[in-house]
Amino acid sequence: MIVESLFLKNFRNIEELEADLCPEVNIIYGKNAQGKTNIVEALWLFTGYKSFRSSRDCELIMFGKESAKIRADFKTNSRNVTCEIAISDKRKCSKNSILLQSPSALTGEYPATLFSPSHLYLIKGGPAERRRFLDIAICQLSPGYAHALKKYKMALTQRNILLKDIQYHSELYDTLEMWEAQLALFGAKIVLKRLKYVDLLKSLTQEIYDGICGGKESLSIMYLMGSLHEKSRSEQEIKEELTEKLKQTRKEDILIKNTSVGPHRDDLIVYINGKSARSYGSQGQQRSAALALKLGEAQVIREIIGENPIVLLDDVMSELDYKRQDYVLNKIKGYQVVITSCEPPQSKRLTCAKMFQISDGRVVS
Ligand SMILES: Nc1ncnc2c1ncn2[C@@H]1O[C@H](COP(=O)(O)OP(=O)(O)O)[C@@H](O)[C@H]1O
Ligand SMILES: [Mg+2]
Repeated sequence: MIVESLFLKNFRNIEELEADLCPEVNIIYGKNAQGKTNIVEALWLFTGYKSFRSSRDCELIMFGKESAKIRADFKTNSRNVTCEIAISDKRKCSKNSILLQSPSALTGEYPATLFSPSHLYLIKGGPAERRRFLDIAICQLSPGYAHALKKYKMALTQRNILLKDIQYHSELYDTLEMWEAQLALFGAKIVLKRLKYVDLLKSLTQEIYDGICGGKESLSIMYLMGSLHEKSRSEQEIKEELTEKLKQTRKEDILIKNTSVGPHRDDLIVYINGKSARSYGSQGQQRSAALALKLGEAQVIREIIGENPIVLLDDVMSELDYKRQDYVLNKIKGYQVVITSCEPPQSKRLTCAKMFQISDGRVVS
């Protein structure tokens, strides 16, 4: 899938912009605060998700204006589609001028993978960052997953509330069991999907990391089920084990007033040359590992839904050394790539790319 052209109106600092993108690498360059990330943000919105920068849609509208509009012409495997998103007090999306029920109806249709400097926290940060990475990636592939997550979070909140009250109200034990059943039911669905996803991601990220580092180092990943047995593999097995663990940890959980087992405690461990990348990786290795995970995510999308996501790389060039920049500019094959950068890369380093210089929300060259 590629974006052939993009149109923005009153979107953040961009009053009006029209650009024809090339199917390979597109480089958006310019000084700070000119609107480069705003363009990436607009492209991201076609995934059907909220912005990666603000949860409130009204922030996307240019100061002093009432509404914004973004439109893109997509060329997918099967057809050409014009998708438009009108943003006012809420988002309204249409495909070939037919209004969709909600923005989430776009989920999975025009997938994208975004990589920005903050994704370094995928490696450096705590387990919550990596669970979020898995959850967002799996949501793009499997709409039922978002539902399971929502139900799980609800049950978790309810169980945690009960854990605080139960010492004064022993009659609440029945209710506790009910929420534990929900946690086990939806928790098993979540764990299973994450395990399957990590299995797919494993070999892909290894290969990509090889490409980035010229095969000198190895990368491996593993889903760590904090409390469950490695061997639990079927949904039923995971559900039974979760049920049992929740029962076993009840006393302890009442003391700490928190739920200590379940997928909200799991992690994705990333190893470089067999050692934890979080604890031992150099800055460069961590950056490359994060990039490999994100490009692996793009490849899984391609394999599962048969459509190439757009690869959005915001502000990552300056953080990479020359060899890794070369990988980003010339070796991400088979995807449309949009890169933002303060400096334009020397054109002799590019095999196939189009450049856009942005100044004050306008394309100036
Ligand atoms: N709703 C808005 N209306 C007008 N300008 C905005 C809005 N939101 C952000 N901006 C402006 O957009 C600019 C930042 O654009 P951004 O794309 O992040 O820059 P960069 O080129 O560094 O990536 C800032 O000048 C900011 O004030
Ligand atoms: Mg930026």
